[in-house]
Amino acid sequence: MTTSQTLQGKRIVLGVSGGIAAYKAADLTSKLVQAGAIVDVVLTDGALAFIRPLTFNALTRRQVHTTLNEPWSLEQAGHVSIAADADLLIVAPATANTIARLALGLVDDMLTAVALATQAPILIAPAMEHHMWHHAATQHSLAILRERGVTVVDPETGRLASGAIGDGRLAVVERIVEQARTVFGEGPLMGRRVVVTAGGTQEAIDPVRYIGNRSSGRMGVELAIASRRLGASVTLIAVEDVDIPNMDVTIVRVRSALDMQDAVETAVASADVLIMAAAVAVFRPATEAQQKIKKQPGQTEMTIELVRNPDIVAGIGKPGLVKVGFAAETEHLLEYAESKLRAKGLAMIVANDAVGTIGSSDSEATLLFADRGPIHLPKLPKRDVAMAIVSLLTSLLDRDHA
Ligand code: C5P
Repeated sequence: MTTSQTLQGKRIVLGVSGGIAAYKAADLTSKLVQAGAIVDVVLTDGALAFIRPLTFNALTRRQVHTTLNEPWSLEQAGHVSIAADADLLIVAPATANTIARLALGLVDDMLTAVALATQAPILIAPAMEHHMWHHAATQHSLAILRERGVTVVDPETGRLASGAIGDGRLAVVERIVEQARTVFGEGPLMGRRVVVTAGGTQEAIDPVRYIGNRSSGRMGVELAIASRRLGASVTLIAVEDVDIPNMDVTIVRVRSALDMQDAVETAVASADVLIMAAAVAVFRPATEAQQKIKKQPGQTEMTIELVRNPDIVAGIGKPGLVKVGFAAETEHLLEYAESKLRAKGLAMIVANDAVGTIGSSDSEATLLFADRGPIHLPKLPKRDVAMAIVSLLTSLLDRDHA
């Protein structure tokens, strides 16, 4: 699949805000146009200080928008038409100021007016100085935008305009184009179906109590997001208490390991990949009391009989299904992970230290495979670990279908 096919005929509004990286927006425009997109460029006042409209006009052969006070015509109702016609709004570079304006919903120029008026997905590629990027205000605005479903193409670490080395360099143009393609569901996993499980199962003792664990489900949610970003159709089977942001995936809610097993068996029937990120309880109470268990006068002890849960992932024997599992251990990590990989028939297992990972936003993982050497990832946010895992699925699928 080439880039040139996937953006063909797509209407993209490219908002450029005022940082030195604005000059890179010309290259981005050129790549989008070469890929077949119809690109309407909107420049903020800040951008105009760095780069001229004629550059974008020559690249797109279309009018470049620089002010909210453009005259309307019968065909063109200013920001309303630009917003309505858009299939995607990209803001690149997105400065700290523009990110804050978008988060607040301000409308003080054409770019922010289009951003508020459009129903199209929004993708932003921030670029700024290291400390501006890490400032709590910027990160808070980004969290708000992410919560609203905006895709953020994180900046890179490298040489900044000041000459310093730090975070905040605009993502390379190819990465922004790649993200634009995945917004249209045209990534490398397009046409693939991925099932992800998330959270710690709840094994009922009575109607109000359960045996659980500390898993937040975050890794599973990030895996679902990453799979969707790469174009897969995703079913996320999550325990009731897992926080799931607004996203374009099928969500199935479960509580116990047995519920999860039912949901997984149904979902994998039409799937190519199963990623078992859930922390499944090994044992469950032998019986669930129908009424809340009452303490008896003088009672000082209570015994709950437990029985073994089925191993969900080991029990799925669908030919051709790529199974990915997790091993969170407190000791002998790689040794235990390796034996689980074999015992459960997995293509890949993600091994990490249980104490540092469960409930945390970061993870330091080693990926072990059935058919190749291990990959050690440094300590990274779970979002990045998830993308690294999901990016490897294509090679595992190709191998299975070879
Ligand atoms: O054996 P252990 O629980 O450590 O294995 C972890 C892996 O197996 C995870 O991918 C987990 O989701 C999966 N698992 C399962 N069914 C169970 C227990 C674990 O599918 N009953």
